Amino acid sequence: MRIGILGGTGPAGSALAARLASIGFDAVIGSRSKYRAMETVDELLARWPDRKLPIVAADNAGAAEADVVVIATPWDGATQTAVSVEDHLRGKVVICMANALTRIGKEFQPLVPPRGSVAASVQAAVPDCLVAAALHHVPAKELGDLDDPIETDVLICSDHGSATELTSEIVGKIPNMRPLDAGKLSLATPIESFTAVLLQLNVHYKTRVAIRFTGINGPMGGEASAPAAPAAAAEVAPAPSQ
Ligand SMILES: NC(=O)c1ccc[n+]([C@@H]2O[C@H](COP(=O)([O-])OP(=O)(O)OC[C@H]3O[C@@H](n4cnc5c(N)ncnc54)[C@H](OP(=O)(O)O)[C@@H]3O)[C@@H](O)[C@H]2O)c1
Repeated sequence: MRIGILGGTGPAGSALAARLASIGFDAVIGSRSKYRAMETVDELLARWPDRKLPIVAADNAGAAEADVVVIATPWDGATQTAVSVEDHLRGKVVICMANALTRIGKEFQPLVPPRGSVAASVQAAVPDCLVAAALHHVPAKELGDLDDPIETDVLICSDHGSATELTSEIVGKIPNMRPLDAGKLSLATPIESFTAVLLQLNVHYKTRVAIRFTGINGPMGGEASAPAAPAAAAEVAPAPSQ
């Protein structure tokens, strides 16, 4: 499966490309400039010379030709970027990992974009694609360190069951990551905002946290959906690689 990443030259998109390529997906790093994407690909291949990572460079339109497309731009460029490649996105699963946040001094604050979240804004602007919001809380540095698995749960929400399913399938292939079905796309609002809390914890405790939920046993769709499962509580733990 080919996965294209819009804004893939940043820390989040390039880390995701490397991690996906390391487990057998074909990754396409997209950019507003194909040359920047080529530089990023060169850097990744130089960092991991023995892994033969299947990563190629493209402009965002080229990346959007992939089977599944990830939006990894800053929040205020996400909708515009999706619209710019709209023709390629029709009928496809589009994973939006963008968080609407600002930092004022040492304080992170969530912003509320139109429709309540970046993911919902993208879905409204490109109604023919199947948006799944996911991967908001995964720290890029740990995601990109292929020598160390990253221990975390990944909340996924979407108005399309097939988008949740495919996103879950992809996330579930990443060692030690557990995909969790967090419901409809309206839940992207608190999921995106919660990132501000994690970043605040990172600053305060001088670490990079990742999320694990207790009270859910097994993979999504398995034991997790059993009615006898106790109420889930969130546990925010330092990422294991730190
Ligand atoms: N960093 C993390 O740990 C992390 C973790 C989870 C989620 N996220 C989310 O993932 C997204 C990307 O994070 P990041 O840290 O990689 O961000 P970033 O470095 O600020 O941006 C990523 C890429 O987006 C492109 N870009 C910048 N401004 C743009 C605009 N106005 N319109 C279109 N494209 C633009 C740039 O690529 P080109 O100039 O090459 O086009 C840039 O390299 C953010 O929304 C963030 O909240 C980040």
